[in-house]
Amino acid sequence: MDRKDIIQDPTIGNKAEAFEAFDDIPTNPNLTRTIGDVINRRYGRRDMLKGVLGVTATTALFGTSAMIAPKQAAAATQGRYNFEELAWGNDETHHIAEGYNADILLRWGDPITADAPEFDVMNQSAEAQLQQFGYNNDYVGFTALNDEGTRGLLCVNHEYTNEEVMFPGLGRQDRAGFAGMTKELVDIEMAAHGGSVVEIAQGEDGKWALVRDSKYNRRITPHSTEMTIDGPAAGHARMQTNADPEGMTVIGTVNNCAGGMTPWGTYLMAEENFHGYFWSDVVDGEDKPDVSAQPEATSMKRYGVPGRWYAWGQHHDRWNIDKEPNEPNRWGWIVEVDPRNPDAKPIKHTALGRFRHEGAESTISSSGKLVVYSGDDNRFDYMYKYVSGGDVTDETAVFGSSLFSDGTLYVARFDEDGTIAWLPLVHGTGPLTAENGFNDQADVMIDTRLAADYLGATPMDRPEDANPGPNGTAYVMLTNNTRRKADQVNAANPRAESSFGHIIEIKEAGEDHAATTGTWSILVKCGDPTIEEVGAQWNPETSENGWFGSPDNCAFDAEGRLWVSTDQGSSWGKTGKSDGLYGVETDGDLRGTSKLFFRCPVGGELCGPYFHDSGETLFLAVQHPGTDGTKDLKGFERDSTFEDPATRWPDFDAAMPPRPSVVVVTKQGGGKIAV
Ligand code: FEO
Ligand code: CA
Ligand code: CA
Ligand code: CA
Repeated sequence: MDRKDIIQDPTIGNKAEAFEAFDDIPTNPNLTRTIGDVINRRYGRRDMLKGVLGVTATTALFGTSAMIAPKQAAAATQGRYNFEELAWGNDETHHIAEGYNADILLRWGDPITADAPEFDVMNQSAEAQLQQFGYNNDYVGFTALNDEGTRGLLCVNHEYTNEEVMFPGLGRQDRAGFAGMTKELVDIEMAAHGGSVVEIAQGEDGKWALVRDSKYNRRITPHSTEMTIDGPAAGHARMQTNADPEGMTVIGTVNNCAGGMTPWGTYLMAEENFHGYFWSDVVDGEDKPDVSAQPEATSMKRYGVPGRWYAWGQHHDRWNIDKEPNEPNRWGWIVEVDPRNPDAKPIKHTALGRFRHEGAESTISSSGKLVVYSGDDNRFDYMYKYVSGGDVTDETAVFGSSLFSDGTLYVARFDEDGTIAWLPLVHGTGPLTAENGFNDQADVMIDTRLAADYLGATPMDRPEDANPGPNGTAYVMLTNNTRRKADQVNAANPRAESSFGHIIEIKEAGEDHAATTGTWSILVKCGDPTIEEVGAQWNPETSENGWFGSPDNCAFDAEGRLWVSTDQGSSWGKTGKSDGLYGVETDGDLRGTSKLFFRCPVGGELCGPYFHDSGETLFLAVQHPGTDGTKDLKGFERDSTFEDPATRWPDFDAAMPPRPSVVVVTKQGGGKIAV
């Protein structure tokens, strides 16, 4: 489908579903490397050794572990995750494994400063929203303020807004030409995006609560938070606008999906689908944006600018590329925030490249470097990592460190033999020269995608979150890619029309996260293992509750165990399961076994997750409850609106729509989670 079709498609029920559908439009034209690749060479051979590879091309593509029958839940072994597995399902509320509390900590609209007005959903204003918890909480991080970790700062991304369940009487606006989107509503949307930094504290009873009068509490928004720019693109001519002729200052950040906390407790916000916020009135004969006369046309096409998902450009010039053609170049970066200093301006670090950054999880390598992993979440886009030039020391482990401006961005090539090559995106090396349109390192960073195309990186099945793990490992969530054709399959993306995604484990050479080579393998191929055509690959100990589709976010706990949360979007009907949190074994005989710990109310995706260092608290974010795929909820079977939502989670108050919320998980009676 093209953009126009998506907006007019009556089967797409809301903005989140439209996001997924927009993702179906690959913007990477450089897919030649995969076309004609040997089909599934690496895994095909392994599967043949097991003697279960069928003779048809379909079977070769789908792999073989589909024949693995799931065990009943009761028979699954405990492994490293000691909890009684939750039963799968999908209904109007959340569920947690027995013996655990899942308490609501913060909801959209909750006042987060001492002066903030109480939430009045029928009379919301931008001024109120700027002092209240934002919409669609995605990434959650925590940094302690005391030695015990019982006080600390929660850092939360607010990715996007769903006008049809936020505002009374409005409905879907992208289908209606944004006719109802007044400047007042647009400004509320802008104020509901971005992030929140809030102090929270744990009481004697073990329960966490907001410290509302804390000096640290603040909202970070595309409405009014001034940010600076550093790195190779700072001040570059392509970063200059009428409002910022120096090219050094941007108001805000947008579509902050996953993110990360640095080892020294600063907060990284990834800018993902920034293209969706830009507008143009220049259209072709089919009413689609036409950028061909734009000086930035090549770049805009590769990045999908303008997306026209929101009406912001109708009310603010900076979101309209007809008026500010350089503005899109100032978005799609990694933003660093100092949660401990509310006066510190956030910084857009251009050395980490410009793409649809899903996340920014970091670690200190065994060689002493800062290493940040970040996926470009688009069908057929790439996996990246950034390695600092200097070492992490007491002097450099600070907010705004030179570690974030002096370093090398690499893009991944996953080879058929199970090795990985990290290819440096450095101006003047290889094809990254003026001849190919890269006049300097700023061009390489502003057009990271175009540069990575030239290097022959591996087009992936939508890289979402990636986390460095123990011993030089990293885990990459490939969420799905239903547009991959049979002749585009490669070893690292082994299924055509992949609806359920997979997880790749990387082992960096010498257990050094800064290494430029390593090996990779597939940890699991997601989906229902009882359906042969799905081609799933799970450890057979995985129960019918434990398998999942569309991995999105991940985290490690203090025990070094991997946890994965899912975002199936509107396609959850393909599994019948709500999105949730799973413990996934990475080692030993149980490698590839998954167990369900928490699940979302209908229409929500599960974000976070973030484990407190104590291992006793887990923060989860339930994003867009009641919106995605509610036509598939038996008994509801329609799109949600403000007046008529599929769920009113978490308040279940007839006067309140569903509210995205952060959930705190603790063990009843105390103690470490799943130990
Ligand atoms: Fe915002 Fe890639 O999920
Ligand atoms: Ca995500
Ligand atoms: Ca993560
Ligand atoms: Ca997602």
